[in-house]
Amino acid sequence: MKSPIRPRLPRLLVAAAVGLAVGLAGTPAAQAQQKLKVGLMLPYTGTFAALGVAIENGFRLAVAENGGRLGGREVEYFKVDDESDPAKATDNANRLIKRDQVDVLVGTVHSGVAMGLAKAAKDNNVLLVVPNAGAGAVTGPMCGPNIYRSSFSNWQPGYAMGEVMAKRGHKNVVTITWKYAAGDESVGGFREAFEKGGGKIVKELNLPFPNVEFQALLTEIASLKPDAVYTFFAGGGAVKFVKDYDAAGLRKTIPLYGAGFLTDGTLEAQGASAEGLLTTLHYADGLDNPKEKAFRGAYQKAYPSALPPDVYAVQGYDAGQMLAIGLAATKGDASKHAEFQAALLKATIDSPRGKFTLSKSGNPVQDMYLREVKGKENRVVGIASKALSDPSRGCKM
Ligand code: BEZ
Repeated sequence: MKSPIRPRLPRLLVAAAVGLAVGLAGTPAAQAQQKLKVGLMLPYTGTFAALGVAIENGFRLAVAENGGRLGGREVEYFKVDDESDPAKATDNANRLIKRDQVDVLVGTVHSGVAMGLAKAAKDNNVLLVVPNAGAGAVTGPMCGPNIYRSSFSNWQPGYAMGEVMAKRGHKNVVTITWKYAAGDESVGGFREAFEKGGGKIVKELNLPFPNVEFQALLTEIASLKPDAVYTFFAGGGAVKFVKDYDAAGLRKTIPLYGAGFLTDGTLEAQGASAEGLLTTLHYADGLDNPKEKAFRGAYQKAYPSALPPDVYAVQGYDAGQMLAIGLAATKGDASKHAEFQAALLKATIDSPRGKFTLSKSGNPVQDMYLREVKGKENRVVGIASKALSDPSRGCKM
């Protein structure tokens, strides 16, 4: 005859074991066993597709150099192609946050998409590192202990070029860009410094993102006859703009300057049309520092058939380095935002761009180089702005 108590014993044991397991699940020891889920939200199609690939390559390289781990936890990747489409940003972010339950978000390239992603990260209290998009709002009004950028604010290269062009004696300038946050803010930064230096923007020309029908605007530039042109374009759009500017016969008569995205990752395709162009950016090819040398070698070894590393690869790599620093401090717990922040704000990040720190708002404080296109490279001509910090207007921290 069965004792009435016997069937209950195993159940009690099971319940106790389950209770113990649930209790342990959140402990550092248990977390170290669980993989760290990293959600990559990047463009893999459209005009910024190559940028997304370079960022992912750089990020994976940093993680691989860290033994495939961040904060002691093995990294597991989840990916979404955001198509650089702001209308899909919330749904795409929620695929990673709610469906895949990622611990960390890394994204994205397009400023409009990044604002949707940052809002989702804030609403759900998930750690986010932006490896490109320069939208001022992300490290402005949306700043917080779970929001960081490994790249730049749109204001930074624009401001640096405003100073350069004013010092070079240009007085009347036309600007041309895509009509969205990145273009507007890049021109805004440029205007701030250029007007301070005595220059005047005679006309701001725009076209919708990601349009590349430049002909009518180039004709307008020719008839306005400014001293020079300042521009923000990137990716496939930058390739077409530089070639069209040259083909329209403007390159020799009206000097073209830009935020460095104009000629980064694009020189193979732009060819001779880009020769001699001057741009400002926080990276240049072949900078004279040991990290750059090691990074370029390691990148080309890891991705032998890819294009040489560019600014996007560096920003992806540094997103990985920043997560390695912050998550080492939290022992792999991505929800400890205060500890993560404390570690990052006192860190100096050893980047291929040169060492940089983060402002309180989580944006890099970094040198802006003046670069000149020589063959297939953006070579440093000088430092346009030393340790330039974004004003991070609206950040309350
Ligand atoms: C942006 O949308 O913020 C952006 C896109 C490409 C290059 C640089 C900035």
